[in-house]
Amino acid sequence: MNSSISQIVPLALGEHSYDISVGFGLRSELADILAPWNQGQQWVVLTQRAIYDLYKPVIDQLKSAGYRIDTIVVPGDESAKNIRHAEDVWTQMVQLGCDRSSILLALGGGVVGDLGGFVAATYMRGIPFIQVPTTLLAMIDSAIGGKTAVNLAAGKNLVGAIYQPKAVLVDPGFLQTLPRRNVISSLAEAIKYGFIRDRSIFDTIEKRFDDLVSLNDQALLSEIIAKSCKIKAEIVSNDQFENGERRLLNYGHTIGHAFETIQEYGGLYHGEAVLYGMKCANFISHKKGLISDELFHRAQAVLHRFELPELGQLAPERVLEVVSHDKKNINGKLNFILIDDIGNGLVSTDVSEDDIVESLQAVTTTQTRT
Ligand SMILES: NC(=O)c1ccc[n+]([C@@H]2O[C@H](COP(=O)([O-])OP(=O)(O)OC[C@H]3O[C@@H](n4cnc5c(N)ncnc54)[C@H](O)[C@@H]3O)[C@@H](O)[C@H]2O)c1
Repeated sequence: MNSSISQIVPLALGEHSYDISVGFGLRSELADILAPWNQGQQWVVLTQRAIYDLYKPVIDQLKSAGYRIDTIVVPGDESAKNIRHAEDVWTQMVQLGCDRSSILLALGGGVVGDLGGFVAATYMRGIPFIQVPTTLLAMIDSAIGGKTAVNLAAGKNLVGAIYQPKAVLVDPGFLQTLPRRNVISSLAEAIKYGFIRDRSIFDTIEKRFDDLVSLNDQALLSEIIAKSCKIKAEIVSNDQFENGERRLLNYGHTIGHAFETIQEYGGLYHGEAVLYGMKCANFISHKKGLISDELFHRAQAVLHRFELPELGQLAPERVLEVVSHDKKNINGKLNFILIDDIGNGLVSTDVSEDDIVESLQAVTTTQTRT
């Protein structure tokens, strides 16, 4: 194990198994860490301009160590997750001489990881790829589990593949340059694990919210990241193709995705949309008597600590329309994730349009104390 790696979380998937390695400063040892995969082939780093400008030395270090490596830059926002950009990247890879042995290294947040994974899954019918996540959301969620995608106007992530990386290399040191808003929105996915699986994550966020957001406490940050990675790895290894348990990871996402789609991915960050979605899901869980008044108010109180932009007016019929197209619907039945305790998620097919509309009203009229 390289000296900077403090934890290794295995993700067991038979021949597609891989490790999630976590360590502050890991990026300065990338040349060594990647050496087992380097056979002199062409490598491509997929990234965005802001990340390239901040972390060019990471790529230069690989060049100095003898890697044949070039960089492809895509737009710095969600618009990069588009089939036209995928085509641009495929074309540039052909021009760089990439063949089936080439390796794509996705250096960025969920946008780069999702697009990079999709490009790797499809270029010459699939080439290896490695995730080097640079946002908290990517470190604890999107880089793990092999979901890759591009968006359509009709909805997010509607075209994609399940395609696992060869490794996920997490250096929480990247977070120092991440804007506060992104850190806060990324924590949405950590608290989601708290709601659906591990109450201790919820408790930690409840007690140490400010320390987490300020990124000052390395041990605390490592603990939350490693716990989150473990939960994601366990769930994916039990249910790679989302026929059962993996659906729990959609807590807050059904309505959250609708918000993102309606705002055309422009207004809200993914995590912010999910935070609103979790407020709605908590509301419905409470309305159905699954959680007590006390748990409901405690859960909402923690969610209210996350600074969120105003949602504005959303037409409920538009939200219902997008929700009805959700990929997780089976035979027209909505699969909605609720909780019956903090730390225990469940799949419900018993959430009606009225439940959703009522939760939207509760969350959007007060936008605070629901
Ligand atoms: N595949 C999955 O399982 C999965 C799960 C959750 C979310 N997602 C997807 O992830 C995407 C959101 O990802 P995200 O929240 O990481 O946002 P993002 O990838 O859009 O990154 C946010 C911004 O931060 C910049 N950035 C990234 N790292 C930085 C750093 N270290 N320092 C400074 N700036 C940095 C990026 O260039 C970008 O402008 C959405 O498209 C969502 O659908 C996928």
